[in-house]
Amino acid sequence: MKKLLICNHKMFLTYDEAVILNQKMSEIDFSMIDLIICPSYLNFDVFKEYKLGAQDAFYEKSGAYTGEISSYDLSLRGIKYSIVGHFERRKYDTNNTINLKVKALLKNMMTPILCIGETMMDKELRRTSEVIKKQLYSALNDIKLEDNEQIIIAYEPVWAIGNGNNLSKNEIEDVLKYIRKLLKQREISNYKLLYGGSINKNNIKNILTDEADGYLIGNSSVNVEELLYISKCIK
Ligand code: 13P
Repeated sequence: MKKLLICNHKMFLTYDEAVILNQKMSEIDFSMIDLIICPSYLNFDVFKEYKLGAQDAFYEKSGAYTGEISSYDLSLRGIKYSIVGHFERRKYDTNNTINLKVKALLKNMMTPILCIGETMMDKELRRTSEVIKKQLYSALNDIKLEDNEQIIIAYEPVWAIGNGNNLSKNEIEDVLKYIRKLLKQREISNYKLLYGGSINKNNIKNILTDEADGYLIGNSSVNVEELLYISKCIK
């Protein structure tokens, strides 16, 4: 099966910069991988030839929610994926809100890209397993996936996001195996499991593993050289 590469553009690019990146990306052959681009809402059109994901999606269908964009509205625009529970947004969302967002995405026939991961303090206190379990099970509370529904889970340790901190391949594999076990206990089999956190062309080869169905990248996703190298390595 092709490896999945999800590019989270965060708030890195203006429209003009997105246009330039898109032009450069057209020279890369992505046919050997499955690629999803999560640009800013304003840049969806720029990347319309790719599978698109949002970086977040609100659960209510419509209403007086200043600044929010609903999964319903995104689905009407043909957006099929959305990140949810990313650590850069968890400060605004409770576990309950994340659960509502996952449910709303599924209801609107979108695939949630659920991010989970421990902080450095969790890691130091050796509570990674506990935190992951809580985040995963609360996000999936009351959810039973239908055969035509899928979820993407991304393990992104907070302490390894955007700062060059790396986990060893063994550390990544241990947590991914643990997440697979938790999903099995919840009888969820229709999923893909990714790893993310400071992935770049210098470390990707060291962390390639069959335990990961793919990778979620931030900084490297807006740098065409990094993107080219990473996409070649993971295929
Ligand atoms: P970096 O690859 O920049 O560490 O970001 C990872 C991430 O947060 C992707 O969602």
